Parts: sequence; structure tokens; C-alpha cells
Amino acid sequence: MAQILGGVMTSHVPAIGRAIHKGLQDDPYWQPFFAGFKPVHEWLAQALPDVVVVFYNDHGLNFFLDKMPTFSIGAAPEYRNADEGWGIPQVPAFPGEQDLSWHLIESLVEDEFDVTTCQEMLVDHAFTLPMALLWPDQTWPVKVVPICINTVQFPLPTAARCWKLGQAVGRAVRAWDSDAKVMVLGTGGLSHQLDGERAGFINKEFDLQFMDSLVSDNPAWATQFSVRDLVEKAGTQGIELLMWLATRGALGDSVEEIHRNYHIPISNTAAGLMLLAPA
Ligand code: DHB
Ligand code: FE
Repeated sequence: MAQILGGVMTSHVPAIGRAIHKGLQDDPYWQPFFAGFKPVHEWLAQALPDVVVVFYNDHGLNFFLDKMPTFSIGAAPEYRNADEGWGIPQVPAFPGEQDLSWHLIESLVEDEFDVTTCQEMLVDHAFTLPMALLWPDQTWPVKVVPICINTVQFPLPTAARCWKLGQAVGRAVRAWDSDAKVMVLGTGGLSHQLDGERAGFINKEFDLQFMDSLVSDNPAWATQFSVRDLVEKAGTQGIELLMWLATRGALGDSVEEIHRNYHIPISNTAAGLMLLAPA
């Protein structure tokens, strides 16, 4: 049976793509952010995952307001990026792990999660940038399964529902008839708000408590909050922390914290990074 090695949660911001493109990793503004990934690179070099299940939120590239699935899963042979409005970044296509995609889709529907199946799927910065942060040379040594959670158009799924989705994904991966080594990647957050009266809003106290809760005895702490509560605490786009909850849910009952980094700000965003492994 397949094995889950660990999970990485990280923020995603389009400006990271520009910094990579311009080689600004050691620039004083960017250094505290990029340096946070060194322990993750060391862990990856040891763990050598074969497959990455990525929880992320599309921002209008693959799904738009006319059709917005709450939960969707890629089942494509490969995934490509496309222009999000600031020029097309050249990233190699990501090879899909279709056997795991279909196993997850069947398991999740059986488990009463009515996911949308995508045999074609474009992936946006929320997918491509975290992959490039984990594998900076962008020669992807892994196959991928994208799982997209709607954070763009209300109503959004609750924190409790995303937690349960993650748990169901974890159970399904561990029951997958394969000897693959799988890791989970969740991208979004932490607190930030890009628009409206509270544009620029960041809540460090909440972010740190949220990160702690993912390792403590009560990792489901955040599931007590409604989506509206979370928007109030973390900002309209900070709600992307739902990806962190799903990722944590997939890792099983208890986890060990291997690494974390937290830096304010990257663009308008509180940038968080965690690496957790099943205990
Ligand atoms: C920005 C975009 C994002 O998707 C995000 O999560 C954070 C910041 C931005 O445009 O700055
Ligand atoms: Fe985002």
C-alpha cells in the first residue's frame, strides 16, 4: 500500500514567480522567505517522494464564476499553466498520476464527497509556484494529483468540511494499491486581504495560533470557526488556509513538526511554511 511521507503547507503569491524569474532569492526583501525552504529541500532529498497530492485554490484560470465546483480533482495525463494576465511564465508541464487520481475520485465519491472530475485542467500560480519552491530547478521528479478547493466564489466549504476532505484523501492514499511514496502539499494563506476596506490586513497572532494548532493535540481547532469567522480573522484571501487544513487532515491523527517559517510580508501576504510528517 502507498505511504504518506509528510506534508508541506506554504503561501503562494504571484510576486514569488517574478522573484524566481529575476533571481532575487538572496535579495534582502526575499531572502527570509526563500531561505525558509532550505530544510524542506533537505527533507525532500532524503524522502524522495514519487507523487504529490496538491491541495490548492484556482484563482479564475481553470474555473470562473460561471462554473465553480466546490471540490475538484484532476485526472489528466499532464497539467499545464497558462497566462493569468501578467505574461505566460514558462514552466514545464506537470506529469499526472492518473491511477491515483481515479482511485481518489472513486474513494471520495464512495465516501460521500461529490467531487468534480477534471480530465483537462490548467493549474495557476497557486500550484506552479509552490512546486517551483520545492523543486527550484523545475524538472519535476514527481507525478501530481491536483485537488482544487473553491475559495473564490461564495458559498465556500467550511473548515470542518475541508478537514474531513483531507482525512478522506489520507485514508484513500493509504489504501491505494501501490508502493509509491506520496507527499501532500497545501498552498494558500496565511492571513491576507487584497481588496476592500481591509486591503493589506494581516493577523500574525491568528496565523501563529493556527500553525500551532496543526501540530498540537487539537489540530482541528480551526474547524470551530465558520467561513465568515475565518474571513474576519484571516482576511478575504486568508481563507485559503483551508488548504492547510485539508493537508493536515490527510496526514493522520498525529504529526511531528519538522520545520516552519513565518515571514511578514511577501507582497501583501503573511507568508507561512510548515513541514509536518505523520508521527
Ligand atoms: C496575491 C495573490 C494571491 O493568490 C495570494 O494568495 C496572495 C497574494 C497577490 O496578488 O498579491
Ligand atoms: Fe491566492
